[in-house]
Amino acid sequence: MSTFYITTPIYYVNDVPHLGHAYTTIIADALARFHRAAHHAAGDHTRMLTGTDEHGQKIEEAAHKRGLTPQQLTDDVSPRFSQAWQQLNISNDDFIRTTEPRHKAVVAELWRRIDAAGDMYLASYDGWYCVGCEAFYTESQLVKMPSEGDGWYCPDHKRPVAWVAKERSWFFRMAKYQAALLAHIESHPDFIRPVGYRNEIVSFLKSGLRDLSVSRTSFAWGITPPSNDPEGLPHVIYVWLDALTNYLSALCDVNADGTVNLDSAMAKTYWPEAVHLIGKDILRFHAVYWPCFLLSAGLPLPKSIVCHGWWTVRGEKISKSLPATRIDPVVLAKALANGAPLGDQIGVDAMRYYLLREVPLGNDGDFTLESLFARYNAELANDLGNLINRSITLLQKFGGQFPPTYRQVAHAESQRGLQQAIEELLTTTARDAATQFAEFTPSRALETIWRFVREGNRYVDMSAPWAQAKKAATGDTAAVEDLQLTLHTMRGLLIAIADLIAPVLPTSATTLLGWLGVTRAPQWPAGAVALQETPASSWATEITPLFPRFDDATMAKISALVLPVETAAAPAIEAPAAVPAKASATKAPAAALAPISYDDFMKTELRVGKVVSATAIPKAKKLLHLFVDVGEAAPRSVVAGIAEAYPPADLVGKNVLVVTNLAPATIRGVESHGMILAAGDDAILGLSAVDRDVPPGTRVR
Ligand code: MSP
Repeated sequence: MSTFYITTPIYYVNDVPHLGHAYTTIIADALARFHRAAHHAAGDHTRMLTGTDEHGQKIEEAAHKRGLTPQQLTDDVSPRFSQAWQQLNISNDDFIRTTEPRHKAVVAELWRRIDAAGDMYLASYDGWYCVGCEAFYTESQLVKMPSEGDGWYCPDHKRPVAWVAKERSWFFRMAKYQAALLAHIESHPDFIRPVGYRNEIVSFLKSGLRDLSVSRTSFAWGITPPSNDPEGLPHVIYVWLDALTNYLSALCDVNADGTVNLDSAMAKTYWPEAVHLIGKDILRFHAVYWPCFLLSAGLPLPKSIVCHGWWTVRGEKISKSLPATRIDPVVLAKALANGAPLGDQIGVDAMRYYLLREVPLGNDGDFTLESLFARYNAELANDLGNLINRSITLLQKFGGQFPPTYRQVAHAESQRGLQQAIEELLTTTARDAATQFAEFTPSRALETIWRFVREGNRYVDMSAPWAQAKKAATGDTAAVEDLQLTLHTMRGLLIAIADLIAPVLPTSATTLLGWLGVTRAPQWPAGAVALQETPASSWATEITPLFPRFDDATMAKISALVLPVETAAAPAIEAPAAVPAKASATKAPAAALAPISYDDFMKTELRVGKVVSATAIPKAKKLLHLFVDVGEAAPRSVVAGIAEAYPPADLVGKNVLVVTNLAPATIRGVESHGMILAAGDDAILGLSAVDRDVPPGTRVR
C-alpha cells in the first residue's frame, strides 16, 4: 500500500482565483494524479485537499468594504474557488472551508491540547501588524519606502503596516520548541524542500524564536478559543492557527456530541504522509509555526513542506493589488483551447503543461505569452501532436497488417536494434520520470517524458513503415514481419505516452487512450513490457489534432483575450488632441426628474473604480476605451464618452465612480460593462471621484 496526502494552501476569500493560485493547485493535482497512476496496483491511498481560508481581520475588513457580512462574503467567494478548480480539471478529494463546523471543532480541540501542555498564557501585545499577511512584524523585518512617505512597510505587500496598540492576547510558548524543531529539521533532510528554503528556515530558527500572540480581541470574525479569559474579554483565535489546522481537520470526524477524535482512521492513514505544497510567501507559517503547534499538541509532524516560487507578469508578482498582473486561469485555458473541437479542457491541458514545464519547482518565473506559444507550438503541436497524428494515420493506412500478438512478431530480425533501443528508453523514462515526480521536480519529469516523445518520432522515421509496406506488397515476408512489429510498437508507444503525460495532461491522455480503444484509467507504465502487451487492437478512424499549431492570427487573438490590460507604463496609450474641460457658466436645473424611493436608488450599484488603462477608440472622437479595476478578478472594460475632456494618459490611476450593474452593451465594437459617472450634459465638465484613496470595488451609496 502506498499513501500520499497532498495539500494546497487554503485560499483567502478576499480575492478570486488567479493564475498564481491555480499554479499551486495544478502542481498538487498533477502529483496526486501521478501517485494514483503509479500505485493503483498496490492498493493506492492518494488524497488531495484544497479549500478556502475564511476568518480573520482581512476577511472581516473586505466584507465591510463591500457592504456584506463576513459570512456573506465567504459564501459568495468560496464557491468561485471550487468552481474554478472544477473547470481546471482538479481532482481534489475534499474541499475544506474554515467556517465549517468540522473544522472549528478540530481547531478548538488543538487549542485545548496546546493549553493542556501548559503552552498558553495571557499577556498583552503591541506591535506592527500587516493585515495582508495576517502577521506581526518587528521593525527589523519591515522596510522603508521613501518614495511613499515615512513609516514602515510590509516587505511582501509593500503597504504600510498598522500599529496594534496594547491588545490583551493569548500567547503560545513557541520559543520552547525552537530546539526540538531544529533537531527535527536536521534529522529529516526532506522536511523542507527544495533545500534553499530549508536553509532559510534553519537560519531563521537559529536567530531565536519568540512566543506568538495567538488570539485577538479587537475584531470578532474568527473561532472562539475554549480557554477562559478571567477578564471576560471576547477573543478570536489567530487566523494562522485556525487556517493551518485545516490540513488535519479535513481528516477528522466530528462525533454526535460535537467532540472530535484527532486520531481518526483517516488521520492515522494520511496524517504522517502529509505533504504541504505552498508558495514561498507562506513558508514561515508552515515550517515554523505549524510544526511548533503540532509538537506542543503531541501530534506527528507532516512529512514534507514543499515550496514553490512566484509567477510574475512583466516582473511584478501576480497579486490582488496589481490588476494588470491578474490573469484569470479559466480565461487563459479557454483562450488556449481557441474553440477546439475537443473543448476547453484541451486549453486547460496546454496551460497545465506550460506552468509545470516552464519553471523548475522552487524558482520564480515570469509569465509571457511568447514563451507559452513557443512551448505550445514546439512541444505540444509539433513533438506530441505530430507523433500522435502520424502514428494513427499510419495505423489507419496499414492496419490490415496489425499482428494479433506481440510474440508472433518478436522475431523480426532486422528491426531488433531499433526495437531494443526504444524499449530500453521506455524503461528508463518510466523509472526516471517517476523519481522526478516523486522528488517534486515535475519540470524535469516532463523533460524526461518529452525526450521519449521525440525518440518516438525518430522511431517512426527510422523504421519507415511506408517503405516496409511497399516492400511487403511485393511479397517480401520479412518486410511483412517488420511492418507488423512497427505497427505494434507504434501503438504501444502512444499508449505508454498517454500514461506518462496523464498526470499533467489528463484530458489529452484519456482522449488518446480512447482513440486507441483503451478503456482503463491511466496507469504508470511498468517499463518495456508496456510495449509488448496487445490490448484490443483498435484505433480511431478519425481524429482531430489535439494541439493545432497556433498561427500569428490565433496568437494575436489569444493575447487580446488574456492580457487585455496595458499597464500605465506601456507606451500604447496615445493621447488625441483633447481639450481639458473648462467650467461652464450655464447652470443645470436641479432636480428636474420625479423623486425616487431609497429602494429604487439602491438598485443602482455604484462602486469606486481605478482606471488601469485608457485608449482612444478609432473614428469615435468622444469615446475612450477604459479598463477599470472595480475590485474584481480582472479589470472591467468600459466605454466612456469623455475623450474630449480628458487625454487618456491623464486618466490612468484616477479613482472614478462606476455604475457596475448596468446591462452590458457593445459600443463601436467594444464591450462595455459599466458606466463612469461624470458631470456635464453634452460637454463633460469633470469626472466623479471620492475624496480619499479608498480601495477599488468599495460600494458607494
Ligand atoms: N490563506 C493563506 C494560506 C493559508 S494555508 C493554511 C494564503 N492565501 S492566499 O490566497 O494568499 O494564497 C496564497 C498561495 O497562493 C501562495 O502560497 C501560493 O501558493 C499561491 N500564490 C498566490 N500568488 C502567487 C503567485 N504570484 N505565484 C505563485 N503562487 C502564488 O496565503
